Amino acid sequence: MAVLRFDWNTLYGELNGCTKCRLCEHRHSIVVSDGDPHADIMFIGEGPGREEDEQGVPFVGAAGRLFNYHLEEAGLDRRSVYICNVVKCRPPQNRDPLPDEAESCLPYLRAQIALVRPKVIVCLGRIAARYVYDRDIQITRQRGQIKKLGAFYVLPTYHPAALLRREELTNDFVFDLCTAKKLAERIKAGEQIEL
Ligand code: URA
Repeated sequence: MAVLRFDWNTLYGELNGCTKCRLCEHRHSIVVSDGDPHADIMFIGEGPGREEDEQGVPFVGAAGRLFNYHLEEAGLDRRSVYICNVVKCRPPQNRDPLPDEAESCLPYLRAQIALVRPKVIVCLGRIAARYVYDRDIQITRQRGQIKKLGAFYVLPTYHPAALLRREELTNDFVFDLCTAKKLAERIKAGEQIEL
């Protein structure tokens, strides 16, 4: 994927007051990220929901609280990972972002990836995977499968909101979080990763 070479100030400057797509019309906040901008693991969701829009922070609603719980279970501290979304403004009624909305916002996500330079990118759900891989994937079949994409290892898993509806997905989700943590540790230790 093409990467815009931004620094953080330029990125925040560009985001501030962004009107590149219709999602700007009803937003309260531009929800950029939470966590550590030097993190080894980056989580990418779909887009802010109502509570995220109100608070300006990703994953603070019901799905976010469940996500926090499972992060801890996997031995990950929310403050030590980087969390963001494909689109930075809330889609109305929490619908999926439309392709043109996602495309307008992708330069921001690409800049975030380039600036954070995580060791591992975890795509939370189909929509995030769609825009990171630049193609549709079947999350139920491909979750947990690590791929190298340029400089990054990418791991798709379920969106935490899916676990609210289908509790039986929880074990796989936590397993994938543990995989991401172990993978980041192995890369950090200089291990050669065979896929
Ligand atoms: N769902 C997402 O994809 N992102 C959020 O920030 C919250 C819910």
